[in-house]
Amino acid sequence: MSDQNLAIIVLAAGQGTRMKSATPKLLHPLAGSPVVGHVLRTARALDAAHVLAVVRHERDRVAETIEAELPGTTIVDQDEIPGTGRAVEQAVAALPADFAGEVLVLNGDVPLLDADTLAAFLAQHRDTGSAASVLSAIYDDPHGYGRIVRGPAGGFDRIVEQKDASEVERAIPEINAGIYAFGAAALRDQLANLTTENAQGEKYLTDVIQLLREAGSEVEAVPVAEPWLVAGINDRAQLSETAARLNALIVRGWQLNGVTIEDPATTWIDLAVTIEPDTTIRPGTQLKGATTIATGAIVGPDTTLVDCEIGAGAHVKRTDGTLAVIGAGAEVGPFAYLRPGTVLGDGGKIGTFVETKNAEIGRGSKVPHLSYIGDTRIGEQSNVGAGSITANYDGVNKHRTEIGSHVRTGSHGVFVAPVTIGDGVYTGAGTVVRKDVPAGALAVNVAPQRNIEGWVTTHRAGTAAAQAAEAAGTAAATDAE
Ligand code: UD1
Ligand code: CA
Repeated sequence: MSDQNLAIIVLAAGQGTRMKSATPKLLHPLAGSPVVGHVLRTARALDAAHVLAVVRHERDRVAETIEAELPGTTIVDQDEIPGTGRAVEQAVAALPADFAGEVLVLNGDVPLLDADTLAAFLAQHRDTGSAASVLSAIYDDPHGYGRIVRGPAGGFDRIVEQKDASEVERAIPEINAGIYAFGAAALRDQLANLTTENAQGEKYLTDVIQLLREAGSEVEAVPVAEPWLVAGINDRAQLSETAARLNALIVRGWQLNGVTIEDPATTWIDLAVTIEPDTTIRPGTQLKGATTIATGAIVGPDTTLVDCEIGAGAHVKRTDGTLAVIGAGAEVGPFAYLRPGTVLGDGGKIGTFVETKNAEIGRGSKVPHLSYIGDTRIGEQSNVGAGSITANYDGVNKHRTEIGSHVRTGSHGVFVAPVTIGDGVYTGAGTVVRKDVPAGALAVNVAPQRNIEGWVTTHRAGTAAAQAAEAAGTAAATDAE
């Protein structure tokens, strides 16, 4: 049952100029979801009756992402009047007229603020019965933020913006995090009194706080436990700092869940990844998207997996994989490139310098060395010789290669698709398989070898090769005596 007395407004209209990006700031990825997705995940966890997001800059792209991340969010378009106050005013206008609960204002670019912190903030706001509560933080370097000015008894007095702050006020380390809880009625009353008569010509949400104070209402400022919880993303330096902080939390979470992570600093794990206990993640590994790792698996070092499924006890080292499924006890790498549609059966192997794509490789089958296997199905317990290629592309269309079970193909084979190789087939080394091979046959098509005796001595006289050949000939003659 959702909190009928809670409405959440996510501010997402800002321009994000300092990112210097064609991609809207809120859509930059962080642990596998867009920045604003993290805020919406928190909003979802708070289970509010109403979630609204205010958009303007890159409106369509931002709105589409928001609707995908949290279906049911009400998109509110901010008009040409700028400022956080205007954004909230328009969102409140989109709430049911009789909504009389609390309005929580979140920033779309503050992704690490978690639902527990916000739930505690909201509970405190409700307990004190204040007209408004402001989330604050103590910063080592508060430059640029609005400061929380407290009275002699320590209670909240007002917010002063950086540019309006006196020397003494600029020394205050407690900043306005830009996250607020309001009583809906008090908020509605004061939004109506906002003007754009200030230096920036904007409607400031912070003026609502000021107006409430002037009207004699109580306002609280509540500091968060850790300043990074309310860190905003304005530029790419802050994006990477926030990503590192979030990653450290994710890594620690998996460690406490029974995953050995040898080097947290070089291991990056997206939020949607799942890892079973008693697994080992070795240094330099990125686990992305909806990747899952089953118990006993060892992944890394130097491995990137996107939306992959790694079976129990599998070993995947120095591998780049996307949308691949690796069976239990299978071995992959080092230096394997798994492209979408790779499915390796239990106990199978995709070895060194092997590229696979749309390749189903059955239980116990092996492609150990230097191969390209694409648009192919291989049965069980087959072995593909070193340096084999499925020639799947005729320059216009892609074709399939079917290889049966218990097949042994020789080294340096080429399978010119479409082609079918039956169960139990052997192929000779260097065979270019152009025709189907029936079960149990040996396929060979390399021309018989001819050795022209003495060719080097006559045609390459005086070279080191000729001398070596002569010495070998003498030795052979001596041996024969
Ligand atoms: C604001 C606060 C400041 C606080 C800081 C915390 C005011 C006047 N000041 O400053 O006290 O320390 O946040 O980060 O509010 N937005 C809209 N529509 C707009 C303008 C902004 O939706 O017209 C959104 C932005 O996308 C952003 C948020 O509101 O998510 C904050 O706006 P921003 O311009 O960054 O506020 P600051 O000037 O940094
Ligand atoms: Ca800001």
